[in-house]
Amino acid sequence: MPHIVAATDAMISQAAALLRDGKTVAFPTETVYGLGADTFNARGLATVYQLKGRPFDNPLIAHVRDWEVAAALMQPPRDQDGATSRVSAKIGEHLARRFWPGPLTLVVEKSQNVPAKATAGLHTIAIRSPAHAVARRLLDAFGGPISAPSANRSGYVSPTAAEHVAHDFADVEDLLILDGGRCDVGIESTVLDLTSDPPRVLRAGSVSIEQLRSVIGEVTPTRVSRQDIAPGTAARHYAPRTPAELVNTDQLRERLRHADSPLAVLTFQPALVAPPHHAVGMPPTAQEYARSLYSALRQADALNCQRILIEIPPGEDDLWRAIHDRLHRAAIHG
Ligand code: TXA
Ligand code: MG
Repeated sequence: MPHIVAATDAMISQAAALLRDGKTVAFPTETVYGLGADTFNARGLATVYQLKGRPFDNPLIAHVRDWEVAAALMQPPRDQDGATSRVSAKIGEHLARRFWPGPLTLVVEKSQNVPAKATAGLHTIAIRSPAHAVARRLLDAFGGPISAPSANRSGYVSPTAAEHVAHDFADVEDLLILDGGRCDVGIESTVLDLTSDPPRVLRAGSVSIEQLRSVIGEVTPTRVSRQDIAPGTAARHYAPRTPAELVNTDQLRERLRHADSPLAVLTFQPALVAPPHHAVGMPPTAQEYARSLYSALRQADALNCQRILIEIPPGEDDLWRAIHDRLHRAAIHG
């Protein structure tokens, strides 16, 4: 059984000691909960992959306290052919100063001393400095970088509460979960690849492309439905076990009228949904929607209906686009 514990100083120290000992610990960030291990401990990293059932070609994000710790994970700029990494280090520092701590992950050339397991064998490493107070206290207590994917079973919906982590890893003996309440952002960080020129968004998130452009100029956007945009990431992701489908409001009315078995419906208009169907009401603003999306998907999944219908949000700004990306991935089956 996992243990959800309050993030007291004693528990933070215990969590740091577990990491030092090559164990894994779940902790909150402002985006989603992470399942962490010492970036330099092969055993800890192997456990993360094994517990998640994560494909070994899907690299991890290293969580750091600040830019100095990040810089130590990066290849130091060289004189001869190091021109590119010098530029990306400079851009990285610029972005870190503006968006860290926060939901922006930077992909940079990795230093040779970073173990291959921490990056799935790639010569690049993804790094971010989380803003959540509990994550920061854990990083302070531990001292070094913590590699952590989202703390869900591979392919399933990301966790935005300690209970979600406990649910997914119910069979894991003694997994320590630091409780940090509900995640404020609710969807995973924006991943920006600084090794391509211009920098390229690999995963949309709450740090928008407009914000990135305002700091570094040209940025290549990701395409919502493109498969395998980030290494090891199949298109199907963030998906409930119940088949999910995106529908507009007219389609929703139609489907509710003709369904022959109960549906679970994520909707802006719960009043449309009458028994035997189940409504999970969704908030109208992008920020609130992102914050509640994963718990809504988990809630809908737990209803054990034949199908989940998701009313497509009409919004079009950057955060809505990041949300649409997650919805499309949740609705892909196979
Ligand atoms: O908000 C987040 O980023 C959360 C919290 C816990 O920090 N973490 C998270 O980790 O979402 P994960 O492992 O579920 O997703 C990491 C993403 C994957 O899409 C992976 O392919 C990409 O980052 N990634 C990691 N290292 C990379 C690299 N070296 N190059 C390109 N993409 C990389
Ligand atoms: Mg994940």
